[in-house]
Formats: sequence, structure tokens, C-alpha cells
Amino acid sequence: MSQSKFSSLPTQMRAIAVTDGKGPASALHLVDSLTPSPGPGEVVVKVAAAGVNRPDILQRLGFYPPPPGAPETLGLEIAGEIAALGEGVTGWRLGDRVAALLGGGGYAEYARVDARHLLPIPEGLGFVAAAALPETLFTVFANVFELGRLTAGETLLVHGATSGIGVAAIQMAKAAGARVIATARGPEKAEQAKAMGADIAIDSRAGDFAPQVIAAGGCDVILDMVGGEMASRGLQTLNPCGRLVFIAFQGGATAEFDISRIMRLGLTISGSTLRPRSADEKARLTRAIAAQIWPWVAEGRVRAIIERTFPLAEAGLAHAALEAGAHLGKIVLEV
Ligand SMILES: NC(=O)c1ccc[n+]([C@@H]2O[C@H](COP(=O)([O-])OP(=O)(O)OC[C@H]3O[C@@H](n4cnc5c(N)ncnc54)[C@H](OP(=O)(O)O)[C@@H]3O)[C@@H](O)[C@H]2O)c1
Repeated sequence: MSQSKFSSLPTQMRAIAVTDGKGPASALHLVDSLTPSPGPGEVVVKVAAAGVNRPDILQRLGFYPPPPGAPETLGLEIAGEIAALGEGVTGWRLGDRVAALLGGGGYAEYARVDARHLLPIPEGLGFVAAAALPETLFTVFANVFELGRLTAGETLLVHGATSGIGVAAIQMAKAAGARVIATARGPEKAEQAKAMGADIAIDSRAGDFAPQVIAAGGCDVILDMVGGEMASRGLQTLNPCGRLVFIAFQGGATAEFDISRIMRLGLTISGSTLRPRSADEKARLTRAIAAQIWPWVAEGRVRAIIERTFPLAEAGLAHAALEAGAHLGKIVLEV
């Protein structure tokens, strides 16, 4: 049966806006805004928690505009309860506890979500822990498992291993039966990466990581969020038929590669972004993650590491904390 069902959605809600569209962390303010209502195939979620991600900072600075049709408000992932069901939504009920990947609009009391992008929160998992999962799980799944085709017995090399993405990559690769070599900047972060499950953790500030990876047998897939010089050196560590996958280029958008090595070893270089993908593609990813990755979440093999939470009104402080870079895992807003 398709019918529109609303609990008592208020007409006004509070959400975080960026003064003049872009600026420093202090430009984030709580404002009154219209509560969204669900279109056909959509739900409105009463947000309990929203994950904070590096792309939110890029958007705040004006470098990562929302894709067409997405809300201007920041926020790519949430957890909460379904507060309204749009026309034609089946399989979900008011009050269901859900986590979701969004095109934007998560830093708010209510968020509109394509019902095909919802994941049910497993029994015993809190909203904060659930809100910290979608962006990292989708990114790692799409890049390490789909583009990178990582399989059991292979080795993943992941840089930025104590980031939200890095921690998820370590856990998911280990859950899939792969070996993980992690790099992080500083001995303390390398130690944290080991504690997160990495088989080998290298302090990339202490010298070139490449000889250490090669001495440890090389790697089959690299998840690279750094680029630049680290990408050039990373390519040296790939075994035959290895795959280098970019998700960011924080250390430089250009890199030098030995083309003969790519040819001789049959290496693949690729990369992707998550946010601009179509709703249908995100629905496909959601189904695949629900089937392959979400059971690991229910079993506790993949779990968010929460550095700290902030109230929604303090989103600016949350951004400043992420920018300071001392965090392990995720920073989450409580709504
Ligand atoms: N393509 C996609 O679909 C997609 C989706 C989501 C996120 N991302 C990207 O993935 C990255 C991680 O996201 P996140 O939310 O997990 O961010 P995060 O927690 O802020 O982590 C950023 C990480 O990058 C490391 N890093 C930055 N510059 C570096 C450099 N020059 N050399 C080595 N390491 C460097 C940092 O290392 P330190 O801790 O040592 O500072 C940190 O571990 C971001 O770049 C983000 O934009 C891409």
C-alpha cells in the first residue's frame, strides 16, 4: 500500500548554516529553517546524530558544492528515527531506527532521505555510533572492494590510517580476510593504527614507507587519500596486477609514475568520488553494503571509533577539532 504518513512534523526546525555560503569554522551557525517533507519514495528522519567528515570542511570553505538537488546544508550522514513516510515507501515504519548516507542536509533536526539509502540500525548500536558509519563504509566499500577488488588473502595498504576513512578501511579489510599495512604520520598514530587492527603500521614521518612495505611482501591494493609523492612511492610497493585507488589528494594533485612498471606488472590506477553519484547508484551501493558489510556492523567487527561528540549548535567547534587533526576515528554531532 502506498500512502503518505506523517507523525507530527513541526513546520520549523534548527539547522546549521554557513554565513555567506563559505568561511572558517566560526562561520557555522544554528538557524531556523523549514522542516523538509518527504517526496515520493522518501522519508524524513528525525536526526539524533550526524557524522562530521573532511568533505564537510571542503564544502564549508566553498570547494565542494552540493550536487544538483541536494540541500545546501552540510552533513553527509545521519542516524535517527523515521518521522514521516512519503508516497510509495514500503518496508519502513514510523519510528524505525535508521542510518543513512545523504547528499547533504545532515546537520539539522530533520533530514529528507531517499528510502533506498536507508540502513536499519542493528540492535544495541547507539545513534552516535551509527551516524559515524555511512560515509566511511560507502567510501571504503566503493573504492577498496569494488574499484580495488580486494579479496581475502591480499594485502591492503592504507594511508591516513587513523582518519575516519582509514579506521573503517582497516576494520573492513580485516573482516574480509585481507592483511593490512597502514601508514600514519607520527609514532603515536602508527601505534593507534596497530591497535585498530593493522598488521603492520608505519610512521610515514620517520622515513620512506615504501621499502618497509616491499620488505613485508608488497601490497595488492592501495587506498590513497594523500596523492603527490606518496602516490609515486606507493606505486613502487604494488605487486603484479595491483590496484591503486585515489579518494583524495591532500598531499598533491599530481604524481610521477614509472609507466614501464605499470605496463610490466599490469597495474591499475583509478579513483572515485561518492557524493556526485546518482541516487540509483547510491541505492545499488546501499543494497550491496546491507548484504555484505552491514552484517559485520551487527557482529561488532566493524564499528565506528568515536573521538568526540559535540552538540549540533557547536558544529563550528567540531570542524575546528577535525581540522586540528589530532583525532582518532570520527567526530559526531548530537542533535
Ligand atoms: N572520494 C570520496 O568519495 C571520499 C569520501 C569521503 C572522504 N574522502 C576523503 O578521504 C579523506 C579522509 O576523510 P576523513 O573524513 O576520514 O578525514 P580525516 O579524519 O580528517 O582524515 C584525514 C587524514 O588524511 C591524512 N593526511 C592529510 N594530509 C596528509 C599528507 N600530506 N600526508 C599524509 N597524510 C595526510 C591525515 O593524517 P594525520 O592524521 O597525520 O594528519 C588524516 O589521517 C579526506 O581527504 C576526504 O576528503 C573521499
